[in-house]
Amino acid sequence: MSETDILQTIEDYAQAACLAQDAGYDGVEVMGAEGYLINQFAVPRTNQRADEWGGSTANRARFATEVVRRVHQRTGSSFLLIYRLSMLDLVEGGGTWDEITFMAREIEAAGASIVNPYVGWHEARVPTIATMVPRAAFVTLTARLKKELKFPVVASNRINDPSVAEEILARGDADLVSMARPLLADPDFVKKAISGRALEINTCIACNQACLDQAFAGRVSSCLVNPFACNETELLITATVQKKRVAVVGAGPAGMACASTAAERGHEVTLFDSGSKIGGQFNLARKIPGKEEFAESLRFYRNRLANANVRMELGRRVSAADLVRSHFDEVVLATGVTPRVRDLPGVDHPKVVSYIDIIEGKKSRVLASRSSARVASGSMSQSFSLILNTERTTPPGNSRRSGELIFPLTIVVVSSLSARSSRVAKCGCCNAAQSELGKVSRRRQAGSDVRCSVGAACT
Ligand SMILES: Cc1cc2nc3c(=O)[nH]c(=O)nc-3n(C[C@H](O)[C@H](O)[C@H](O)COP(=O)(O)O)c2cc1C
Ligand code: SF4
Repeated sequence: MSETDILQTIEDYAQAACLAQDAGYDGVEVMGAEGYLINQFAVPRTNQRADEWGGSTANRARFATEVVRRVHQRTGSSFLLIYRLSMLDLVEGGGTWDEITFMAREIEAAGASIVNPYVGWHEARVPTIATMVPRAAFVTLTARLKKELKFPVVASNRINDPSVAEEILARGDADLVSMARPLLADPDFVKKAISGRALEINTCIACNQACLDQAFAGRVSSCLVNPFACNETELLITATVQKKRVAVVGAGPAGMACASTAAERGHEVTLFDSGSKIGGQFNLARKIPGKEEFAESLRFYRNRLANANVRMELGRRVSAADLVRSHFDEVVLATGVTPRVRDLPGVDHPKVVSYIDIIEGKKSRVLASRSSARVASGSMSQSFSLILNTERTTPPGNSRRSGELIFPLTIVVVSSLSARSSRVAKCGCCNAAQSELGKVSRRRQAGSDVRCSVGAACT
């Protein structure tokens, strides 16, 4: 950037803040983190300038400081100016702690009202907000920064529970707590926390699947556990005008959501599941190391189903005849998915185990954690590797049973899941489900190689 570009960009930041002020906002947050422009000026990794905007720590902090100074000048002291500081870049050539605290003090002097630290550039290889990151993982660093500054400091990242937020404030680690995704997962988070209904909060499980992943793909962000997020004006749930008796078969996530929503609309709902507890495959997911947050969704639904007076019939495999006899007005099948066992030579060998056997502990994890090969890849396969790695890092005395045979190789079949519904069409060649066939036919139309996305060539 030329000197003219730099000065113009500083003016642009100030102008944007003025527009926000004119529109009635109480303040703005200047983004100085995540590897965006201001952050790029701050660190040697990206700033190789030899003029007064690069080189020394003070020069590299100049762009950030001038942005803050100009925004403050144009918007005045009663307008909140929060600065998003990169407290830990987590990339090579990032700022040192001394440089970061220097920057924070300069920002403070330039007129910022609050500092909101963030951890990691988008390019960082270290997970900072994914589900395997412990709750409030970076608060110790925030507390350290707070000691160096006079203005209020915010704690951010993976704070998804009111009790965690309270603990941070009570310890004096931060002056404020920020939440982003937890408010997508439950817009009533604060209301529920204040009114003593924390157990009713729909907790963000930090999966990033429907929020960040969507944003990076240029699509509207929503939430995996709350599809209403960003669809509030389109997904409208209204009270029913005709009360019905509804049976929902299957208490996995889809069945639980359907049953509670139907009951909240005013229907009389019974939820059946052959298992003794709600949750379906979420009960498997929550056992994967680093995916413990899935248990929160089950807690949420347990409370929601109870509050909506859904009649629970757990531990009961209901038949079509049962449902007919009970004269339900509507029956919803939400029986989920069943693992597809690949037709491979030797698939019935005792050394071949399924991921469900391992997760549920029906087959020995020790057996699988010796020398194992995985068939298939994908998220379930990765989850499975996490289990094995966790086992491997556990001291042998804790994980190995005496007298156990050691097999040279165990094969774990981590195959795709196929829907149980009989309406799902299957590819004759490779057993791909209907959704995959859709992709195949789209590729055929586009004139490209026809190859099933499950992996086999289907011509
Ligand atoms: C969809 C999405 C968009 C985001 N966009 C921004 C952004 O523009 N500026 C910013 O400072 N942080 C942004 N963030 C990061 C959040 O502000 C927050 O720091 C991060 O999600 C971790 O906090 P959380 O665990 O409370 O979600 C975004 C997060 C999500 C999920
Ligand atoms: S999709 Fe929802 S639950 Fe998953 S990380 Fe985003 S906000 Fe949290």
